[in-house]
Amino acid sequence: MTDRHEQHRLAVIGGGVMGTNIAALALGHGVDVTLVDVDEPTLATARTAIRRKLKHAQLLEALPAGRAHGTLATTTAPADIADATAVVEAVVEVAEVKREVLTEVSGLVAPGTLLISNTSCIPIDEMAGWVARGDELVGVHFMNPAYLITMVEVIRGRATGDATMTAVTSLLTALGRTALVVNDAPGFVVNRLLHPLINRAAMLVQEGVASAETVDGLLEGCLGHTTGPLRTADLIGIDNLVDSLRVLHERTGDPECDPCELMLRKVRDGHHGRKSGRGFYTYG
Ligand code: NAI
Repeated sequence: MTDRHEQHRLAVIGGGVMGTNIAALALGHGVDVTLVDVDEPTLATARTAIRRKLKHAQLLEALPAGRAHGTLATTTAPADIADATAVVEAVVEVAEVKREVLTEVSGLVAPGTLLISNTSCIPIDEMAGWVARGDELVGVHFMNPAYLITMVEVIRGRATGDATMTAVTSLLTALGRTALVVNDAPGFVVNRLLHPLINRAAMLVQEGVASAETVDGLLEGCLGHTTGPLRTADLIGIDNLVDSLRVLHERTGDPECDPCELMLRKVRDGHHGRKSGRGFYTYG
């Protein structure tokens, strides 16, 4: 695997919250991006979201000044990513879906192509068995919004090779990100801590102990959290959180990770957070 970040052509699979975040980050750093999703309407929404995110990032001076943006291609045909030098998988947090996507992608790209999963919780070691070359797979947990938060959590699986670690470091440097590397485990570090906290915060609302505003207000005001757990839940997407909590619960047995009834009800009612206009809060 060579250090080719200057000419990286990034393929991003999944045009939802994180796929559009990661695409905007790469485009803003001059990297060409091919974004793949299963349906065209999602891609149309994604193109608008990416333009908005690029403007937002520019406004906040979060992108390198004076650098020409990369070009964006969108497609529903995974075969269009065959010439990618790096692939970021950002589809839903459901192991069966990720397995299908990663198996297909790893059969399409050339050996030496960096394979990145942006999974929240699924162990990289589990995914390594789904791809043709497990040593080329690494976890990169981009935060949301990826174009504003410069720190990322990199997950090195047991099979992840040294060349892959070098290549991912070089790509992340080209994207202006700083990485902290952790070993593999369900939820890694950030979500093993964050997801049970959000679940417990939702449980307090469910039990009538306090409103969402009060729970968030206390953690923000007393503990210095920049964003309270339920505002964070709305940003992440409550549907994604429930999927992630299930992954954690199945793999750790930790009862704190069993998604609470209030979150399950919000998903059933379509109240997924910011992306649907309503979650713990309502958005205009
Ligand atoms: P999302 O639900 O917003 O987007 C997922 C996208 O994947 C959808 O557009 C869907 O159409 C697409 N998709 C589903 N199956 C597909 C397939 N076979 N091929 C191509 N596209 C397919 O989900 P979100 O929030 O963007 O999450 C994506 C991944 O990133 C998940 O693994 C999640 O756990 C992780 N993540 C999410 C964060 C967040 O704040 N939402 C933060 C960090 C990681």
